[in-house]
Amino acid sequence: MYAGSSDQPTPVTLRTLQSRKTAGEKIVALTAYDASFGALLDANGVDFVLVGDSLGNVVQGLPTTLPVTVDDMVYHCKAVARGVRRAMLAVDLPFASYRDPVTAFDNAARLMQAGAAIVKLEGAGHVLEVIHYLRERDIPVCAHLGLTPQSVHAIGGYKVQGREPAAAEKLRADALACQEAGAGIVLFEMVPAALAGEITKSLTVPTIGIGAGVECDGQILVCYDMIGLTPGKRPRFALNFLAGRDSLAGAVRAYADAVRARTYPSAEQSY
Ligand code: KIV
Repeated sequence: MYAGSSDQPTPVTLRTLQSRKTAGEKIVALTAYDASFGALLDANGVDFVLVGDSLGNVVQGLPTTLPVTVDDMVYHCKAVARGVRRAMLAVDLPFASYRDPVTAFDNAARLMQAGAAIVKLEGAGHVLEVIHYLRERDIPVCAHLGLTPQSVHAIGGYKVQGREPAAAEKLRADALACQEAGAGIVLFEMVPAALAGEITKSLTVPTIGIGAGVECDGQILVCYDMIGLTPGKRPRFALNFLAGRDSLAGAVRAYADAVRARTYPSAEQSY
């Protein structure tokens, strides 16, 4: 099958997501780790499917994402890619795989060859040079800011970021710097809703939030959190869309509808 053949749906691209932002239409995103979930999300209105390194937590049962390898990500990317036909497929560069631009390019190229349409990496600072290097070489990049789980030991836990004025100012500056370096999407995790909303308005590229309030241009959840399969303590922003429904497809559609109608996340699921 080649792109453009008659039964191939029009793929979601960065341009599609950009036009959603311009039109004020929300972007619906979820994670997936295998072909079955990839196909389920793709068929039920999800625009952006992320093979997250959260697979370390929810698939491998690890306490952090740090042990996840590029080989792990390639394996799961190939599996999800077999199920996804329309949604944009994003894949995480795992811990230590983008420590310098050339290493990042080599690893990102493996993910793109495995089926990714965009790679995600965490942070700004020295990562800006990596974003620029990848973008210059035609690898689209999503920058992940706020709570960056690969830095959990440096941060000192999984907590809300950007509450204090200096931290909020740094987040504003980092988001803008990521956009200027070439990031096509900025993802915010566990950021006060008002701050994420303000930064979203100031950026030209779309933002996607998880625990970052309803004003982001899109929302993402770990797919298992969306169906009530959260291991351990449920984060404030996780909502079980399978509750009261009798199918996974119904849960995904309910999530997509709630994101598009701006009823998810509510203030209760935000900081
Ligand atoms: O790895 C992941 O699943 C993520 C999401 C939490 C956005 O980065």
